[in-house]
Amino acid sequence: MDTSRRQFLLSSLGAAAALSVARAADDQRRFTQFDPHARHRVSEMSVDEKIGQMTQPDQMSLASLDDIDKYHLGSLLSGGDSDPKSGNDLLSWTDLYDHYQSRALATKQRIPLLYGIDALHGHNNVIGAVIFPHNIGLGCSRNAALVEQAARITAIEVRATGINWAFAPCVTVPQDIRWGRTYEGFSESPDLVKVLGAAATRGLQGKALDDPLSVLACAKHYVGDGGTSFGTGLPRGGKQRFGLDQGDTRMDEATLRKIHLPGYITAIAMGVGTIMPSYNSWNGVKCSASSRLLTGLLKQELGFEGFLISDYNALDELPGTRKQQIAQSINAGMDMVMITDRYREYYNTLKELVQEGTVPMSRIDDAAVRILRVKFSMGLMNPEGKFLADRSLHKSFGSPEHRQVARQCVRESLVLLKNEKQAFPVKKTGRIHVAGKCADDIGNQCGGWTITWQGQSGEPTKGTTILAGIRAAARGAQVSFSRDGSSAEGASIGIAVIGEKPYAEMQGDRTDLHLDAEDVAVVNRMKSAGVPVIAVIVSGRPMLIDSILEKADVIVAAWLPGSEGDGVADVLFGDYKPTGKLSFTWPRGDSTSLERSDPGYKTLFPFGHGL
Ligand code: GLC
Repeated sequence: MDTSRRQFLLSSLGAAAALSVARAADDQRRFTQFDPHARHRVSEMSVDEKIGQMTQPDQMSLASLDDIDKYHLGSLLSGGDSDPKSGNDLLSWTDLYDHYQSRALATKQRIPLLYGIDALHGHNNVIGAVIFPHNIGLGCSRNAALVEQAARITAIEVRATGINWAFAPCVTVPQDIRWGRTYEGFSESPDLVKVLGAAATRGLQGKALDDPLSVLACAKHYVGDGGTSFGTGLPRGGKQRFGLDQGDTRMDEATLRKIHLPGYITAIAMGVGTIMPSYNSWNGVKCSASSRLLTGLLKQELGFEGFLISDYNALDELPGTRKQQIAQSINAGMDMVMITDRYREYYNTLKELVQEGTVPMSRIDDAAVRILRVKFSMGLMNPEGKFLADRSLHKSFGSPEHRQVARQCVRESLVLLKNEKQAFPVKKTGRIHVAGKCADDIGNQCGGWTITWQGQSGEPTKGTTILAGIRAAARGAQVSFSRDGSSAEGASIGIAVIGEKPYAEMQGDRTDLHLDAEDVAVVNRMKSAGVPVIAVIVSGRPMLIDSILEKADVIVAAWLPGSEGDGVADVLFGDYKPTGKLSFTWPRGDSTSLERSDPGYKTLFPFGHGL
């Protein structure tokens, strides 16, 4: 990377991040150093084999295992809910990966598959994996070292199944909390996102990508996914567009660079190997077909030397015929296409486009070289390499040591918003009455992207509920529970654990962020029983809580803490002093707009607030 670009890199970062970037600014060399090897290998490949490397079907859509050979596939993914038929346990996932990788290793070219999965907060598809707090909580910890450690453990648990590519970190900078993907963002602040995104990248990819415990990372969704205008989002049912998800990001280039680009600059400096262009548009132009964004800005100006992976069927959203969609996106700089059952059509259409010259061979070679450079850097091109899962990693999968780190993440992610009447920390004496729909519900505390795409209430995986954590920590005290808050009379304190049920992506787009009636009733019931009330809010974003603001003596934001609910108890009992600071501004219920730039937006707790 030439010095002027290095200067640009460093100039766009804060001091702390700049230091770590200075050390790693040339980490894209981890790919360019293999340029001769990749070019040589590509020169021996047929057009079909090159196009095969650019094709990523979802495993559940494969028509036949032999399509891995027939279409020379370079990659597979498991998108949301694309699970082993035998179940979501560790062994089934490991067997699924080995099943496909073995077939790839039995082909003429013997180029191993990159297998991609959304390991966003732990290896969250697999039962028994440690589930970390979602990024919104990690953002409140402001602890880059801890974020790196969490990502490192995630990488190790992903490798335990053999899988070698995580579609993380999400370096989105959500500007409107009505967006269903707010919780996938560390913060509304680009300064915080760039530091924690870099830390997560380092944790996932480690010091060397050929380390058997490292996974390939993917900075996403490029660019401005968290800055769409309300009402431009995906249509709901009819043609009318709704919400924010996959909408149009309307701003000038300077604003786009200032708010939404920093996370990519530091991820590139950390040597991220893949970047995922986003479904959304920038001023009406789809990111996935913008050569200005994909080639001009990322590859030329920022010196990104890895490869671009499309979002799931993102080409379907481009204007024109199927053929035009593919031509636009590949010519704009897309290198690999994430596609479901239409992979054969994509493969054959791209061949036609090359034959007729619409897509130049040089573009195919560039994509294939980029993909192979990454595979070389991961040690995948070593003829003697072993590429099936290392099952010795199963013994540390979901281990107490891994859970301890997740518990620390929970402790540091909690934010004490309000503390009156000396009700906090909770004393371990008398009777502690716990209530609320999120108190005894692993599914609610993990949120979306947990075992299933949307997540689910109940007990989708192993872990410690917040109630169980309270019981374990309360030692001398008696702990009672009622979901609706009844029978609080006579208790020394009431803890209402309330908030949101799980959701993901567009299914989380909401216009109304008030607490639901069930939650407000729980707090009212406990208050009218005459006990001090602590409200613990388990949610993927700030919520409108004015209905309980006066009633609750203490309010704690717990976000989506994941499987280690005892981390919440540690803070409630003062075994860990709260250090979390808001990574998002928290709006007041009488705001007439939830767009922070609008005069109608009123702040209840400012960014950085935390007692
Ligand atoms: C999803 C998401 C993206 C994810 C991909 C694969 O629709 O937009 O974040 O990595 O598809 O599941």
